[in-house]
Amino acid sequence: MARDGAVYVCQSCGASQAKWSGQCPACNAWNSLVEETQGRPPGALTPSRATRVRGLAFETLDHDAAPAKRIATGVEEFDRVCGGGVVPGSAILLGGDPGVGKSTLLLQVAAEASRRGAKCAYISGEEAVEQVRARAHRMGLADAPVKLAAETSLREILDGLKREHFDLVVIDSIQTMWSDAHEAGPGSVTQVRAAAGELVRLAKKRGVAVILVGHVTKEGTIAGPRVIEHMVDAVLSFEGERGYPFRVLRGAKNRFGATDEIGVFEMGESGLAEVANPSALFLNTSGERAAGAAVFAGVEGSRPVLVEFQALVAPTSYGTPRRAVVGWDSGRLAMVLAVLEARCGLGFGTRDVYLNVAGGMRISEPAADLAAAAALASSALEQALPQDCVVFGEISLSGDVRPVSRMETRLKEAAKLGFRRALAPSDIEASGVLAVSGAARLADAIRRIGDNDWKG
Ligand code: TYD
Ligand code: MG
Repeated sequence: MARDGAVYVCQSCGASQAKWSGQCPACNAWNSLVEETQGRPPGALTPSRATRVRGLAFETLDHDAAPAKRIATGVEEFDRVCGGGVVPGSAILLGGDPGVGKSTLLLQVAAEASRRGAKCAYISGEEAVEQVRARAHRMGLADAPVKLAAETSLREILDGLKREHFDLVVIDSIQTMWSDAHEAGPGSVTQVRAAAGELVRLAKKRGVAVILVGHVTKEGTIAGPRVIEHMVDAVLSFEGERGYPFRVLRGAKNRFGATDEIGVFEMGESGLAEVANPSALFLNTSGERAAGAAVFAGVEGSRPVLVEFQALVAPTSYGTPRRAVVGWDSGRLAMVLAVLEARCGLGFGTRDVYLNVAGGMRISEPAADLAAAAALASSALEQALPQDCVVFGEISLSGDVRPVSRMETRLKEAAKLGFRRALAPSDIEASGVLAVSGAARLADAIRRIGDNDWKG
């Protein structure tokens, strides 16, 4: 039986139940229900306050108030993803795997912003002040006037932030914050939600930009903080593959800017270095291009990025063939394989398929379909693509190759990096920069690869 006021909250989706069960009835996650005591939600109207409501004051859309002035932190890759700096009074959630570099990035952001005159605080619930200081020393940031604190009590933090005004406050991490108004343990949905609610309210009320760090679970969702995504103004994710130094910052939601921009960093001895021109970073430029490799001319936000798709198609030694993919969507891979099979006669039923995006980059543009298909076909047919060829185009289920956005930008960047030809959707004007081998249908593209035929 539930105790008085106790409910069972799913730690995965946040739904609450009156009774415990092994599986969450809302999202079907197993073993995710945890008993939590719920008080009145902070800020809820008490009956006496409710009677004093005065009614809505409406405004017009047209207003000549100056747009919010942004705080340029000086870490340009970060500022770009935020939409040109951090907006005062906004709340940002930065998610990422443990160890990816979230604390490193935000210490750098706070330090650089404070050097530019913004009043910044970095509050760590995970590390002692000494540890943060040692890291700052190693990163050459020791002289930056950031105020440090190691604290997990929400009450202490809110009290401190009410007494002293800051322009930018980093809370590392939201899962370690703990409010004594709730009985649930730190890191539980109730605590995370309560702490985020209080901090977001403080941000709005005092015009402070608050950045919350949230650790992500294995499944790729922000654990617990998933339930606060709707409270914040921007959700950023910091990602990178183990073993590669590159880190990519992406916007998943942004009330003050576009969400398709990326920021690229390289993790080194002394922190994160910004990579201002990442277009050739993920490209393997050494040696011959082997069968199974295709260079995708991609665009991330406002910048072109070239990456290599690598495929290996090999006879399967088990009953069920394996499909493994790194850096691309596995559902998309299944679709491309099905289209190659149904429309181009390339069978994968008895073959293992491995697909890898080189350099630890993750690609989500549909324009990469043709590059993945080209890499797969190149491996299956054991015919390498020309060394100087880039590929892009979206594939439909009917087997058509569709035009994609910013084709001119892709071609220009490829030309700049020494590429001479492109395998692309057919209705693209030969731009003069590159020789374009058009393929209106996927079957045309596969035939070109198989016959090594690259005439326009
Ligand atoms: P960290 O910022 O602590 O990760 P998070 O806060 O996301 O958990 O980064 C930790 C990793 O970064 C750690 O494995 C060491 C590496 N690192 C460097 O390689 N160079 C550096 O200068 C710093 C500060 C960290
Ligand atoms: Mg950390």
